[in-house]
Amino acid sequence: MAEKLITLDLNRPWWERCFCVAPLIVVGTKEVNGKYNLAPKHMAMRLGWSNYFGFVCTPHHRTYQNIVRERAFTVSFPSTDELILTSLAAAPRDDTDTKTSLAALPTHPATIIDGVFLQGAYLNLECKLQQIIDGFDENSLITGKILAVHVIESALRLEDLDDRDLLLQNPLLAYLSPGRYAKIAESYSFPFHQGFHR
Ligand SMILES: Cc1cc2nc3c(=O)[nH]c(=O)nc-3n(C[C@H](O)[C@H](O)[C@H](O)COP(=O)(O)O)c2cc1C
Repeated sequence: MAEKLITLDLNRPWWERCFCVAPLIVVGTKEVNGKYNLAPKHMAMRLGWSNYFGFVCTPHHRTYQNIVRERAFTVSFPSTDELILTSLAAAPRDDTDTKTSLAALPTHPATIIDGVFLQGAYLNLECKLQQIIDGFDENSLITGKILAVHVIESALRLEDLDDRDLLLQNPLLAYLSPGRYAKIAESYSFPFHQGFHR
């Protein structure tokens, strides 16, 4: 017999009632004072098969305000080794509106846009602002056109390297919303239907 379905109250924070798997990225932006800001986001995804990327952010965050002004941002995909650094990027700001934890985060510069990446991240994107879609209550979708992409050598898929081995050696970091994370090392070939094409 099928399990009973519980219908949840839309007026309550129902996303907290069960887990969903999400990526975990760090968005880099340039501040008014010329320094660089980093902030983690899990509501993030590629937009299609070519060079577009988007994530959800509230206009109250400095990340949003910086992107409106600078019209560019970076995206770092941390590996499991950068979990704590990723969390530090979400530390609160002090009385002078400074996120002091950022001083502890090692970074390296982007090549095309004015920005930085989180050191150690396995996949790095340099984006120029494509479009901001406001209006999801207090949230907005920020989209970028990817101008450059960099992958660390050990994370690069190669013809003579088994994909399963690649992921065993370089586990992926997933955010299990709300409030948990996973290291994904074990993986399986997807059972595509014979003749499937996208
Ligand atoms: C694991 C994790 C995931 C997060 N995901 C998002 C997200 O998807 N969208 C968002 O707007 N904020 C998200 N946040 C919160 C902000 O990134 C965080 O509050 C950040 O410090 C805002 O900084 P800013 O004002 O410098 O932009 C997340 C925080 C954590 C710890």
